[in-house]
Amino acid sequence: MNVNDSEKILFILGKEGYLPTKDETKADLIILNTCSVRKKPEHKVYSELGRFKKLKKNNKDLIIGVGGCVAQQEGENLLIRAPYVNFVFGTHNIHKLPELIKSAKSRKQKVEVDFYKEIYSLDFQGYIEDNKVTSFVTIMQGCDNYCSYCIVPYVRGSEKSRSSKSIINEIKLLTEKGIKEVTLLGQNVNSYGKNVKGELTFPELLKKINLIPGLKRIRFTTSHPKDISDELILCFGELEKLACHIHLPVQSGSDKILFRMGRGYTKKDYLKKIDALRKIKPDIAITTDFIVGFPGETDKDFMETIELTKKVEFDEFFSFKYSDRPKTKAYFMKDKIPEKIKGERLKVLQDIQKDITMKINNKLKGKILEILVEGKSKKNNQQLTGRTKDNKIVNFQGEESLIGKLLQVKIEQVFPHSLKGKII
Ligand code: 5AD
Ligand code: SF4
Repeated sequence: MNVNDSEKILFILGKEGYLPTKDETKADLIILNTCSVRKKPEHKVYSELGRFKKLKKNNKDLIIGVGGCVAQQEGENLLIRAPYVNFVFGTHNIHKLPELIKSAKSRKQKVEVDFYKEIYSLDFQGYIEDNKVTSFVTIMQGCDNYCSYCIVPYVRGSEKSRSSKSIINEIKLLTEKGIKEVTLLGQNVNSYGKNVKGELTFPELLKKINLIPGLKRIRFTTSHPKDISDELILCFGELEKLACHIHLPVQSGSDKILFRMGRGYTKKDYLKKIDALRKIKPDIAITTDFIVGFPGETDKDFMETIELTKKVEFDEFFSFKYSDRPKTKAYFMKDKIPEKIKGERLKVLQDIQKDITMKINNKLKGKILEILVEGKSKKNNQQLTGRTKDNKIVNFQGEESLIGKLLQVKIEQVFPHSLKGKII
């Protein structure tokens, strides 16, 4: 979501006449787009700002703006802690950037963190780099779930769906510009259209997008396990463009912890959804998120998380140590887990998953898989990189002209987070 917001920011700045630079000493304007889902990225904001402050010494006209979730959370406070910042804008205020920059030029500091009923920042398209093959498309914003650990509903506001017409128009435009794959974004895509009279449901939206000519693949993130419907599960069997992958964050394998997290499902409910998905699509890749060391998590609760991990055999997961977030219910819970134990549990869980991922990836050795070529590999510029339909990254030798093409590659080597292949 933040990456997509940054693309929108780039798009607006481009229209204002700004050009991107990787050299911050050359910048006339620096915008820091921030994340506050855990404490660590929030702290990073202030250390980054400290660096930018130094740049202002050599360039008095440098404009510094802070956007995103930390900006939303902190508002005016941010200007108190970092008075050299020119403006602060919240998650619903990206469209106000031209005005904010104008004020900054006339030396007026501003804070814009209002939430709006209309979704101004949803309806404009992001910035597309040349040669780009994949694109994010925001379909909704905000969240009404209020999981007890999560700051998102406070910093992104309540759930709002963008009109299906606008979404489909954007995807048509993107495919005309060469985009082959879209990732539909929302905090909880399953509740797309729920509170809008006459709007499509999420499965209906997927079916319409599946018909767009030129588009090769559709991905979406994130789905909430409590809301994933039979209709959506059936889409994995019916829609040929839908990726063979679902990210379904479970957070914990203990019913006690799931209840305290306010997730609205039990381990059994979650496993039932996994079974239903695998029945429709046996080779579907399943990834998840875990939080370890949630307040009150005992060794036994953690063991249940391990058991679930082994039982489901996720393709991969993102795992985090629980981090206290202001305003949330969990912040006020008493039985907090010491950092050391959280760290130990995280390592145990990640080591177990590493073996599972390698076991799954090893089975792919020698197989021929279809990949969508996305561009040059980040680590090795001589190589190209692409992804399989089940979201595995494959690096291989090839000409730049292959970018954007669907190709068959033979998998020769496997690693925990990527595969190496050869075009056949
Ligand atoms: N502490 C740790 N991890 C968190 N997440 C959300 N809030 C917190 C928190 N307070 C994780 C969840 C979510 C992912 C995006 O971030 O696992 O799925
Ligand atoms: Fe946060 Fe996701 Fe829960 Fe919403 S559903 S409160 S975004 S963890």
